[in-house]
Amino acid sequence: MTDAHILVVGGTGMLAGLTEALAGDGGRLSLLSRQASRFAGPDNLTGYDVDYLDKAAFVAALEAAGPVDLAVAWFHSVKIPAARRLAERIGSPRGSGRLFQVVGSATGDPTHLDRLATAADVAANLPQCRLRQVVLGFQIEDGRSRWLTDAEISGGVLAAVRADQLYTVVGQVAPWSARP
Ligand SMILES: NC(=O)c1ccc[n+]([C@@H]2O[C@H](COP(=O)([O-])OP(=O)(O)OC[C@H]3O[C@@H](n4cnc5c(N)ncnc54)[C@H](OP(=O)(O)O)[C@@H]3O)[C@@H](O)[C@H]2O)c1
Repeated sequence: MTDAHILVVGGTGMLAGLTEALAGDGGRLSLLSRQASRFAGPDNLTGYDVDYLDKAAFVAALEAAGPVDLAVAWFHSVKIPAARRLAERIGSPRGSGRLFQVVGSATGDPTHLDRLATAADVAANLPQCRLRQVVLGFQIEDGRSRWLTDAEISGGVLAAVRADQLYTVVGQVAPWSARP
């Protein structure tokens, strides 16, 4: 869908590689973060400088960006109300849209399986928003455990988007006791 509108929240840091790759697909890409306009991208990328903790400003940026076909969102906490405002904007006159919710490794903690379900509430009762979840895990390499690199995070989330996977773990979250 090269004429799709893709929106990325928090795509200037560890997800910069994903932002660049999705912008390279063509279509229109909106990037929302506090300093999004500093992100060097192709002409089809528009940066909206906004703090997602400022709900009114975030809603205004979403309205300026327009209806969303595909969103990838990295909020530093699943409790940020702006995430729900984003989910409400998913879908366009073309039909429903997809929201890839990127969440930290704490959602992979087997003693807190409720965390992933709580995170999924962001799209509850929003039939236009088809939710997919991507958990950032860790990596065991040469017998040593480490956190993911930015390249691994961007590549893993991008692969989840390309394959349209409902649930993805980038790296691993098991055994949980092996995390760094
Ligand atoms: N399991 C794992 O392996 C794992 C999980 C999470 C993080 N990490 C690592 O930890 C590092 C740091 O994580 P990080 O959260 O700082 O990720 P990051 O992706 O490097 O930076 C946060 C992103 O969110 C935006 N952002 C932050 N606060 C915002 C706000 N209030 N409003 C709007 N946008 C906001 C930032 O852009 P602006 O500055 O322009 O606002 C940036 O795009 C990452 O580089 C990653 O390697 C690892």
